[in-house]
Amino acid sequence: MLNIVVCVSGGGTNLQAIIDKINNGEISNAKIVGVISNNYGVKALERAASAGIDAKVVSPKDFASREEFNDALLKTVKEYEPGLVVLAGFLVNIPEAFVKEFKEKIINIHPSLIPSFCGVGYYGLKVHEAVLKRGVKVTGATAHFVDEGTDTGPIILQKAVYVEPDDTPKTLQQRVMEQAEWEILPLAIDHFANNRLHVTGSKVTIG
Ligand code: GRF
Repeated sequence: MLNIVVCVSGGGTNLQAIIDKINNGEISNAKIVGVISNNYGVKALERAASAGIDAKVVSPKDFASREEFNDALLKTVKEYEPGLVVLAGFLVNIPEAFVKEFKEKIINIHPSLIPSFCGVGYYGLKVHEAVLKRGVKVTGATAHFVDEGTDTGPIILQKAVYVEPDDTPKTLQQRVMEQAEWEILPLAIDHFANNRLHVTGSKVTIG
């Protein structure tokens, strides 16, 4: 059984998708043992409570420096002894020590088709604003392993979503979540939990 810690920052809709797919068996051999949020009072914490999952807040506001926050975040994650850390709408730069501690055991969901519209400054609604500004016809989401860079780790799964002529950033974000994020993040976790992901350099093969 794979023990998973899910890190969140806000709405927790990706967390909810994981909870639901563990409950309906689409994700097997896995259990969420903890949820960690960098913000107080967010819906993701309510979702964890409703599912009976232990949740903690590690907020930068509670620490004198970024280094102390980083240390506390890593310490809190390690206390759960996870085999996988999932970043589900987690808007925190993962420190190098964290990446090294959980090498190839951190999966992130990004709301674009990496390498487009990713990297520093591309998160949440900003991604979809940039997509609409550029006028691309197809966007989507990417589930990838986290390395020392920002959105640069080996890609696990991607799913395309068409941009509609009347899309706003909000309508596009919602459709990318519904049609892509909430599908490929749980699927990536199921593949990981059942040892179907094989990383060779920057490539991931599934099987
Ligand atoms: C979504 O846009 C997701 O792509 C991004 O964070 C936003 C909120 O996700 N990673 P969630 O509802 O908190 O899972």
